[in-house]
Amino acid sequence: MKVTVVGAGAVGASCAEYIAMKNFASDIILLDIKENFAEGKAMDLMQTASLNGFDTRISGSTNDYSKTANSDIAVVTSGIPRKPGMTREELIGINSGIVKSVAQQLVAVSPNVILIIVSNPMDTMTYLTHKVTGLPKNRIIGMGGALDSARFKYRLSEALDCPVSDVDGMVIGGHSDKGMIPLTRLATRNSVRVSEFISEERLDKVLSDTKVGGATLTSMLGTSAWYAPGAAVSSLVHAIACDQKKIFPCSTMLEGEYGLNDICIGVPVVLGANGIEKIVEIRLSDSEMNSLKESAKSVTITNNLLADIN
Ligand code: LAC
Repeated sequence: MKVTVVGAGAVGASCAEYIAMKNFASDIILLDIKENFAEGKAMDLMQTASLNGFDTRISGSTNDYSKTANSDIAVVTSGIPRKPGMTREELIGINSGIVKSVAQQLVAVSPNVILIIVSNPMDTMTYLTHKVTGLPKNRIIGMGGALDSARFKYRLSEALDCPVSDVDGMVIGGHSDKGMIPLTRLATRNSVRVSEFISEERLDKVLSDTKVGGATLTSMLGTSAWYAPGAAVSSLVHAIACDQKKIFPCSTMLEGEYGLNDICIGVPVVLGANGIEKIVEIRLSDSEMNSLKESAKSVTITNNLLADIN
């Protein structure tokens, strides 16, 4: 199992580290445009192998895509992260050109690759990847909902004063401060609805804290977060590499599911060896469905900007 991670910045490096630590991949190729940067990160990570007990080989490359040839999975983290006060959508101008070129170069040498898109604005970058590579829809996955759901579970555990492993919850919709939809109605603590334990007001706070999860960290760190994004990507890679058939909310091209068409947005999917093996249509309440439609409207507005850029 060969996994390429494009972009050796904080998110890419953390993603490579978590994949290596899980010890299921034979090779990770870390690629960056900055001379020797990916090679340095790869060497540093390899020097943790004996300490952390993994056998995955990690090597770096300065923009040489031939090193990524025949990758099974490739993760695209390249582009610029947001700064405090910025929305993910504001990154479209710079990141769309980068993601387009990276995706095309990856596919040219790895025709069977499964792509995981992390660069922001993620839903639009996933949509762009469809348009420029023409890969089948099961092989293009946008990473947002897995991260947002992890943040949701963290906020739920905080509100319930219980371990994160006791709670379950999912965030669907666009990966944006306004567009994400934490499904509070369906969230559970050990199979009991969380509304049995906490007030509606507290649950509303969980919802609003979850939606600004990325922005909160960006203002604290001065740049966007990396540990949880890296861990979320590594979970998706793991599910595909080990054919786990796990459900994650991911941004995927919809063709009528949830009443939406020609848009990539976060909905539950089954991930296995073939990438997105199934789009799971869960029954949403009227208000959840309205939120999804609103979220889709704003993703479409961002998608439409692509026509002026490319
Ligand atoms: C975040 C970025 C990765 O939410 O979108 O932290």
